[in-house]
Amino acid sequence: MPNHFLSIFDLKKAEIEQIVQRSARLKKEKKESITHHSLLGKTIGMVFEKLSTRTRVSFQVAINDLGASPIYLNTSEMQLGRGEIIPDTAKVLSSYLDGVIIRTYGQERITEFAENSSVPVINALTDLEHPTQIVADLFTVQEQGIDISSFNLTYIGDGNNITNSFIAASALMGYNITICCPKGFEPNKEILSKSREIGQNKIEIDHDPASAVKDADVIYTDVWVSMGQENESDGKENVFEPYQINKNLLSNAREDIVIMHCLPAHRGEEITDEVLSSKNSVVFDQAENKLHAGKAILEYYFKS
Ligand code: CP
Ligand code: NVA
Repeated sequence: MPNHFLSIFDLKKAEIEQIVQRSARLKKEKKESITHHSLLGKTIGMVFEKLSTRTRVSFQVAINDLGASPIYLNTSEMQLGRGEIIPDTAKVLSSYLDGVIIRTYGQERITEFAENSSVPVINALTDLEHPTQIVADLFTVQEQGIDISSFNLTYIGDGNNITNSFIAASALMGYNITICCPKGFEPNKEILSKSREIGQNKIEIDHDPASAVKDADVIYTDVWVSMGQENESDGKENVFEPYQINKNLLSNAREDIVIMHCLPAHRGEEITDEVLSSKNSVVFDQAENKLHAGKAILEYYFKS
């Protein structure tokens, strides 16, 4: 049975720490032009049912850098896009490939794929989770000199895939997390209860942004309308307006607060241009670190 990365819960604290350390090393070595062909000769499939800029390109470059070959598969150009079932697709693709990276809608789609795959499968975003993003983001937090097992993270906005993976990671790592969202837009209930069951950390849901940012070391936000939710976006802007990360809100936070966003951002909605471009913002470090963390994740799952 291959080792899949479908959820943050698939990793243990020590494994996340190991991948983060490896990301840091790979980043340093890339700057020194040191190469590692640790996946030489392998072929990795990238099955994408949703759009992507960062995840797609960073994984493609990471695969090339490690000496393997990526095959990008847009599902609208596959038989999957015209009704071939997931189990048949998974059996066939995994007989050609050494690993598969998937971005899709429901978590059950990637789970079904993995159950029928003879090679490891990595989740590159579903409606429920975005685990590779969170590993890369923890690396970015660590680069800021923050201990990733004990800091205060405040996530403001929609309780979405990013939120869910950050909550799950908090229970494993031990950092405190406050989710500040409008009522009715809370994160996934099962992930919340599982995280509260296994974690010793503080996991809080708040609805008041000013109080939620007070003790934060890091403030994170994401779009109010995630991919696939476009039909449910009517009126969301009004409900979410008080949850915008702007200068006024940040007057309640520490001066050296770290601002994070996985991107793409909707400037002027969940975050102002001014804050996104400020010295506190590490959003482009986050984007770059997807490459280095992506490599560490690929090595961890696909290296024989
Ligand atoms: N952060 C992130 O996953 O971006 P993309 O949708 O561009 O891959
Ligand atoms: N929550 C966003 C993240 C994009 C990287 C989405 O799912 O669209």
